[in-house]
Amino acid sequence: MSERVNFGSRIGAILAAAGSAVGLGNIWRFPYEAGNHGGAAFILIYLACVLLMGMPIMIAEFTVGRRSKASTGRAFAVLAPGTQWKWIGFLGVLAGLLILGYYSVVAGWTLEYIVASATNSFAGKGPDDFVASFQEFSQDPFRPLLWLLAFLFFTHYIVVKGVKDGIEKSAKIMMPVLFILIVVLAICSITLPNADKGLEFLLKPDFSKVNADVFLGAMGQAFFSLSLGMGCLSTYASYFGSDTRLGKTALSVGVIDTMIAILAGLIIFPAAFSVGIQPDAGPSLIFITLPNVFQQAFGGVPFLAMLFSLMFYILLALAALTSTISLHEVVTAYLNERFKISRSRAACLVTLFCVVTGVMSSLSLGVWEDKFFGLGFFDLLDFVTAKLMLPLSGFLVCLFVGWYLKRSIAFDELTNYGLLKAPYFPVYMFILKFFAPIAILLIFVNELGWLP
Ligand code: TRP
Repeated sequence: MSERVNFGSRIGAILAAAGSAVGLGNIWRFPYEAGNHGGAAFILIYLACVLLMGMPIMIAEFTVGRRSKASTGRAFAVLAPGTQWKWIGFLGVLAGLLILGYYSVVAGWTLEYIVASATNSFAGKGPDDFVASFQEFSQDPFRPLLWLLAFLFFTHYIVVKGVKDGIEKSAKIMMPVLFILIVVLAICSITLPNADKGLEFLLKPDFSKVNADVFLGAMGQAFFSLSLGMGCLSTYASYFGSDTRLGKTALSVGVIDTMIAILAGLIIFPAAFSVGIQPDAGPSLIFITLPNVFQQAFGGVPFLAMLFSLMFYILLALAALTSTISLHEVVTAYLNERFKISRSRAACLVTLFCVVTGVMSSLSLGVWEDKFFGLGFFDLLDFVTAKLMLPLSGFLVCLFVGWYLKRSIAFDELTNYGLLKAPYFPVYMFILKFFAPIAILLIFVNELGWLP
């Protein structure tokens, strides 16, 4: 078999994995979850979840990927031939395909908002106008579809270019730009008048709000934000070189992902409080509340308002793009390896499929009124993937590496065959065997509503 392509450098590997992790989950979902669950108290618990569950599971996914040198869809069949573990791989591929179907709809919206910012069409609007224009846009049967297609096209283009020239190169460009944008935006936001109320909302721990729900919410957020539970990072790890340090890479990705999430909170809350707007829930936070905030916060200087919102939506689009690339790659790599079709043909099939599911999800927010189990198609995809498939496959990965795989394999991968020291190995194994599976079971049960 020909030599498998690898990322060209260790930093490239880190940036690509971080690109997958940093996305709409950080910039939209995290600030809202933190705000609603006691601010800094939530952040502390979230950090514990990232460290105690996210990191070990990420290393476990890395282990599966690099050891098998196969994309997620085949990795388990390679490591455990003739067993039923292969289903974890199929579950991951399916989850990736379905997530892409609705994630790229929201990603497409960011493009509409980039254009709207650039053409200054937010100027002079009030809060009600933003609600109306978002509803009108997201329910329109055509315009969101065009942006969806555009977004899938960009994703497709980069995936087809390949692992080194597409994924790694784009991450090396987009991640630093994203980082600069987010720091500049956070500084602008913190220096607005009355920003301190927002900082207090986000950073002052309010332990009175901490209950079981907060713990479970933090764990769920850690999963989604770190791209765990469907083999995204495992597929990327199959391109890691033999000198890539799995522990260090996981730690870097965890730190970058968490930093971006906190910086996003530092943009959104000070800006919202500065103009006296209570940040509300859901997608409306970034597509309704924020444009309004930007207008008001810099209202005196229209150019600044335009610049700020333009930078923000570019940031959002870049973050979403590096994530859609990773989702797309999981499926493309699987089809390419399993059915021996070329990368570009595999990518075309994936893109075509996502055009169909994407169009269906987009229409389900407007003209298409059919419901499945009480949910529109968009919400159905979100529910089935994020709340059922991710926890299930994360749970199975823990069992696979913790109990099935030989302990020596886990050790060799973590230490690069004994070259590196890993005094934390016993703790890591303990977490994979007991702590993480039990914790995931709890999230699972909670999200299905079986807990009071
Ligand atoms: N982590 C990304 C975000 O925060 C989304 C994402 C990409 C993802 N790949 C994933 C989520 C795999 C779960 C599983 O937006």
